[in-house]
Amino acid sequence: HDVDAQTRFDELVANEQRIEPRDWMPEAYRKTLIRQISQHAHSEIIGMQPEGNWITRAPSLKRKAILMAKVQDEAGHGLYLYSAAQTLGITRDEMMQQLIDGKAKYSSIFNYPTPTWADMGAIGWLVDGAAICNQVPLCRASYGPYGRAMVRVCKEESFHQRQGFEILLTLMQGSEEQRQMAQDAVNRWYWPSLAMFGPPDDQSPNSAQSMAWKIKRFSNDELRQRFVGMLVPQAEILGVTLPDPDLRWNEETGQYDMGEIDWDEFFEVLRGNGPCNAERLERRRTAHEEGAWVREAAAEYARKQARRREG
Ligand code: ACO
Repeated sequence: HDVDAQTRFDELVANEQRIEPRDWMPEAYRKTLIRQISQHAHSEIIGMQPEGNWITRAPSLKRKAILMAKVQDEAGHGLYLYSAAQTLGITRDEMMQQLIDGKAKYSSIFNYPTPTWADMGAIGWLVDGAAICNQVPLCRASYGPYGRAMVRVCKEESFHQRQGFEILLTLMQGSEEQRQMAQDAVNRWYWPSLAMFGPPDDQSPNSAQSMAWKIKRFSNDELRQRFVGMLVPQAEILGVTLPDPDLRWNEETGQYDMGEIDWDEFFEVLRGNGPCNAERLERRRTAHEEGAWVREAAAEYARKQARRREG
């Protein structure tokens, strides 16, 4: 019956239909989804930290309310994504354990520091902008629970991106010092945001299979190009310079030529040696330990409710 099941799976994928949790799926498909979705969930959860750093110091009540809402959205994204991964047969506890043991990957981008308020603008504009470019095609991912989670995530990411752009725009219309602060943040976040899309296509071991399964719809380099194409006109409106002297439109190829990303730095960050890796993990571990009583109380409450229903 495995041959039939495989044929049916292949047909569903070929016909742009969705694979659902109860459908048969190849073991490698299941594993790849658990890998990608759990890494994505961890990124959202760790991603709360660099911005959480500024909630108490936001420059106005309005900015503080917006930033708090944004960080809460990220928590929500993490939770939808953990739920989507759970439909594949891994538990939330297992995923959380992998993260706090330092065995799980999460996006490289969240291992960079946020020393100024302008970093909130640059993260919204560049990091959330890159996230949208990468995630809009994931709304069509062949695995139903993942694709559906992405729809809401992308709507919220668009709001995040606009709020970041608006922070930078306000700074760029301010004093010389504020303009410099905005430019400095863009200088620091530009290259790491390009690296978010993952290694170049010829060094991306998972891309070909994930594209054949229609989890990924575009390659890492294709999405990176699309992102740069989106940034150039927005940078002009902002009045910031993208820190790549080799960036120019190429009439012949119909795309942007760009400078080389520092891939050594990227792989160092993946190995745990980025500027903030240790700090991010330590903070998550502490939060997990300090939240233990909440998990225990919730589990006890659920047990009580179940006993009451039975009794
Ligand atoms: N940071 C950390 N690890 C990365 C990154 C990155 N920016 N890019 C690639 N990697 C890892 C991959 O996870 C993979 O590791 P693994 O095989 O040990 O699991 C390895 O590098 C090789 O990369 P690829 O073969 O290109 O991996 P893949 O096909 O999974 O593509 C990508 C990577 C594009 C990130 C994909 O997993 C994806 O689209 N994920 C969903 C989006 C996401 O996770 N976004 C998180 C940041 S956005 C946000 O949270 C706001």
